[in-house]
Amino acid sequence: MKRTVAITDANIFQTYRRYPIVLTRGKGIRVWDDRGKEYLDFLSGIAVCNLGHCHPRIVKAIRNQARELLHVSNFFYTKPQAELAQLLIKHSFADRIFFCNSGAEANEAALKLARKYAHEHFGGRRYEIITMKYSFHGRTIATLTATGQEKFHQGFSPLLPGFKYVPFNDIAALERTITEKTCAIMFEPIQGEGGVNLPDPGYLPAVRKLCDQHGLLLIFDEVQVGMGRTGRLFAYEHYGIAPDIMTLAKALGGGLPAGAMLASSKAAKSFTPGSHASTFGGNPVAMAAGVAVMRELLETDVLEHCRSMGSYFVERLEGLRKKYPHLVREVRGKGLIIGMELTIEGRDIVSQCLEKGIIINCTIDRVLRFLPPLNVPKNAVDRCIEVLDDILRTTQPPTPTRRTKPLR
Ligand SMILES: Cc1ncc(COP(=O)(O)O)c(C=O)c1O
Repeated sequence: MKRTVAITDANIFQTYRRYPIVLTRGKGIRVWDDRGKEYLDFLSGIAVCNLGHCHPRIVKAIRNQARELLHVSNFFYTKPQAELAQLLIKHSFADRIFFCNSGAEANEAALKLARKYAHEHFGGRRYEIITMKYSFHGRTIATLTATGQEKFHQGFSPLLPGFKYVPFNDIAALERTITEKTCAIMFEPIQGEGGVNLPDPGYLPAVRKLCDQHGLLLIFDEVQVGMGRTGRLFAYEHYGIAPDIMTLAKALGGGLPAGAMLASSKAAKSFTPGSHASTFGGNPVAMAAGVAVMRELLETDVLEHCRSMGSYFVERLEGLRKKYPHLVREVRGKGLIIGMELTIEGRDIVSQCLEKGIIINCTIDRVLRFLPPLNVPKNAVDRCIEVLDDILRTTQPPTPTRRTKPLR
């Protein structure tokens, strides 16, 4: 363990604060470190391993594809790419798809498509994109600019021109911010990194209406909440409306890097040969894994399980909130993206969980975030609650200086 940690710390950019744990193996919700210690993974590689670690169907698909063809350029057609595109389009609002490798790359494609569309339809007069405060869209310079959190912007100025930010769930603020220069509104239907923030009833339809009235493209970033995470294939399905563009990544490749931008034909027409490209986008092995993920989501009861386990998990966490109201402010979530907002910073609780064999994380300093695999067994949820209960029982009540402000 020490050797791996030392080599990593000496050689790799220090952009992550890592725990001193070397993980070597995973199966379902379980992962093991190099000393054989077992952990229950309630983070799933940050919403990537939605079917658990090394799901047999995904592993088989990767093995089979790896024996046949690892990579060719996008100058040629491949079967796995065609198959995944067809599956995604059949089960979403979209008419066309562009494959890439990550969430940032998918969002970058979406931002470019929105600008290109505006150029073609409004002759360059429209270029501004409105995004939300507390949003997260990635770390490339464009997606960083789109991210409505100043802490991520620091040290990278000047950012790109043409972005404006409004508070999530504030339709009046959004309406006030639209001008004759606006071309698109982009946001996560449920904010993940920003603290698991759900849209108020009616908010998404109201945004859709504004977009239609003003001729704006609506872009949903479903990088974190897509691919079954909320108990539906895509989060927008809960709200009775559809976007013009949607981005996916994380769970799309079942653990391999894959991203996608999906669009209605109206928007998609603005990308023509040469408008955009990605060497690895639509890589056959990642696509074969994606097909396995989609088939598992569509052919089994895993989405239903996600919905019922999500309700059960929230109910159990609510029990903790009632027991420790001085420490737990709110529990919120949809399916199996769940946040527990604390009155104190959560870093210490995450470390104690890890010590006791439970992997969770904390966003925005004070929201414990739970992203277990969608097929999480009930006894794993019970174990997580038991561990949290133990930790909260011995956690000091917040002093006035330790107490955090509510997010909303
Ligand atoms: C909503 C959302 N969009 C985009 C991204 C960026 O994805 P990636 O890290 O694959 O570039 C993330 C990553 O956490 C995300 O949660």
